[in-house]
Amino acid sequence: MNKLFNPMKIRNLEVKNRIAVPPMVIYNRTDDTGYVTDIQIEHYRKIAQGGPGLIIQEATCVEKAGRLCDSQIGIWEDGQIEGLSRITKAVHETGTPIFVQIHHGGIYGFMEETVCPSEIECMVRGKSKKSRALSLDELHRIQNSFAEAAERAYKAGYDGIELHGCHNYLISQFLNSRVNVRNDEYGKNPALFAKEIIREIRKRTPASFIVGMRLGAYEPTLSDGIDHALEFQACGIDFLNISSGFAQLSDPFKPDDYPFTDLIYGAQEIRKRISVPVFTVGEITSPKQADEILNTARVDMVNIGRGTLVNPNWASDAINGKDTGACIHCKTCMWRIEPQKCPGRIKYERKNS
Ligand SMILES: Cc1cc2nc3c(=O)[nH]c(=O)nc-3n(C[C@H](O)[C@H](O)[C@H](O)COP(=O)(O)O)c2cc1C
Ligand code: SF4
Repeated sequence: MNKLFNPMKIRNLEVKNRIAVPPMVIYNRTDDTGYVTDIQIEHYRKIAQGGPGLIIQEATCVEKAGRLCDSQIGIWEDGQIEGLSRITKAVHETGTPIFVQIHHGGIYGFMEETVCPSEIECMVRGKSKKSRALSLDELHRIQNSFAEAAERAYKAGYDGIELHGCHNYLISQFLNSRVNVRNDEYGKNPALFAKEIIREIRKRTPASFIVGMRLGAYEPTLSDGIDHALEFQACGIDFLNISSGFAQLSDPFKPDDYPFTDLIYGAQEIRKRISVPVFTVGEITSPKQADEILNTARVDMVNIGRGTLVNPNWASDAINGKDTGACIHCKTCMWRIEPQKCPGRIKYERKNS
């Protein structure tokens, strides 16, 4: 494990190992107000005690109308700062840095009426959905909501933010030229919407505040993903966390003989061309495999998502050579609905009690 347990830096931020816990929304842990609850604070405290190098808090919404569910944590008003700062305090007590992923759902929001860069009809969670195009005023208002959310994140004590720029949500909708067919400057340059947000966040937060993005490798193709990564690097982004793009309109790819997934291949190809840290993700089940990925794909960090839900001590158990447990990749992750029924966790706890 020569690389997995090595420290690294994201800009000036010291990270003690290469294991990141990626953002994972767990439903029904807050209510329609989006205010942080005690169960969420304890969830992040426990994960931090488990030894990862970095935690990225679940998608946290910048506008009430942009939520992906009615129990999503919010960062759209100042009153929410106090609860968010209780999460950062709990995590920082363990010496672990924490970023918050800031998010707007666009057409993938749960509300009946949603917005998208351009008018579109597509499948959203198994149902056909139509969305209207954002006006320029609305577009600028949402950009401002992202910048205000980042300011609140700074005030709440986060070490940085991750723009949610993938997984079908609003920034992904802008970046994907098969979704974004606007004929103004935001359609001609699909990265412009996010680049203006990044520049505004930089103006409003200190230079030490980390600004990164979760970005689709195939948006819609790998060549676009690489172009976007280069544009965001030129714009001053501090890290890129590579994942999937607008899934139904993208072309994932990997060579037949590539030993890992297409997402890891995408992260590898992006990392070859840029110098800021790149994270990868996807069904990484053991410390040995994680280390192989770091060494082969030459990326900088691995995300251990569901593995951490199965065993919050995944990182420290890996470091101590203990059984980390493993996610069994259920068709629908029970953590979205009934975490207590997670079969991977039940199996792990039985084996190790
Ligand atoms: C319950 C759950 C909630 C998730 N919520 C988010 C989220 O808020 N933001 C995000 O970018 N990805 C989210 N994801 C995706 C994860 O961050 C991660 O990319 C995915 O689980 C694959 O990694 P893994 O195989 O290590 O779990 C979620 C995944 C799960 C299982
Ligand atoms: S519910 Fe299934 S997919 Fe989700 S973490 Fe547990 S074992 Fe993994």
